[in-house]
Amino acid sequence: MIDISANISGVHFDSCIMNASGPLDTTLEELTDIAMSRAGGIVMKSCTVEVREGNPEPRYVDVEWGSINSMGLPNLGYKYYNEITPKLKSYGKPLIASIAGAESQEYRKIVESFNSSNVDILEINLSCPNVVGRPQIGYDFEMSEEIMGVVGDVSDKPWGVKLPPYFDFVHFEEMASILNNSKISFIVSINSIGNALFIDWETEKVLIKPKGGFGGLGGKYIKPTALANVRKFAELLNKRIKIVGVGGVYSGIDAFEFILSGATLLQLGTSFAQEGPQIFERVSRELKEIMEKKGYASLEDFRGKLKVMD
Ligand code: DHB
Repeated sequence: MIDISANISGVHFDSCIMNASGPLDTTLEELTDIAMSRAGGIVMKSCTVEVREGNPEPRYVDVEWGSINSMGLPNLGYKYYNEITPKLKSYGKPLIASIAGAESQEYRKIVESFNSSNVDILEINLSCPNVVGRPQIGYDFEMSEEIMGVVGDVSDKPWGVKLPPYFDFVHFEEMASILNNSKISFIVSINSIGNALFIDWETEKVLIKPKGGFGGLGGKYIKPTALANVRKFAELLNKRIKIVGVGGVYSGIDAFEFILSGATLLQLGTSFAQEGPQIFERVSRELKEIMEKKGYASLEDFRGKLKVMD
């Protein structure tokens, strides 16, 4: 039997493959589809204190090798995501709430609300690139540290942070030192690559309406950056901090590469939006087939064991 289960802070996932926060996870109906699929866990849309309609449409477009989006955090508000937890938990999978805010007191309020819910894990989103006039928190190291301090003070649940991609080793090192001094159990790496631009050359127009066409890049374009982030953080973080890999996972080969780079769990964003809930079964099966061919029985057999050249 090939085992692709994983564990974060004592929470057991039968499969390491699940959805990423964002696509098809805003309503109870969408989340129930994930609950009934072969996903190893259920991740909910990032929620805010107030209900948000998000940015004007078109705000998500599939492109040749992925997607561009500027959703603007449309969500039903943190109270809704508290209220639906008993229904979602009845499917028996780990349930992950994703939390977004403009400043630390908003994070505090939402984190406290989930303490008395039956959510298993909190994902603190420090990396939404799409709210007009608001920078990505993960690029502001002081602000990131402050929010992690507040969450660490109030959370009764295991929690981690969802990070934007970094591109410079100095930034990886600075963020890793903050993370190593925090109470996180895991990082989720990476969010979309912020503020990309697609153009329809025939109409000479941008593809999405918000922010003059700028939006978060997802899908195949971002896999090399995501692998680099997982790999670099695997080198720099204390071994107690697990890594949830996201960014361009479409196949078992992609999943295998992320685990080889050091990931424990994997989340599917654009690929899930494009293929629907049956993708969890397909990618899990493909990953198991690769492991069988290579003679690996569990993810520990190859996690982080990427070879480099002398
Ligand atoms: C949105 C996009 C993100 O990448 C994110 O982390 C949170 C929210 C959005 O536009 O809704």
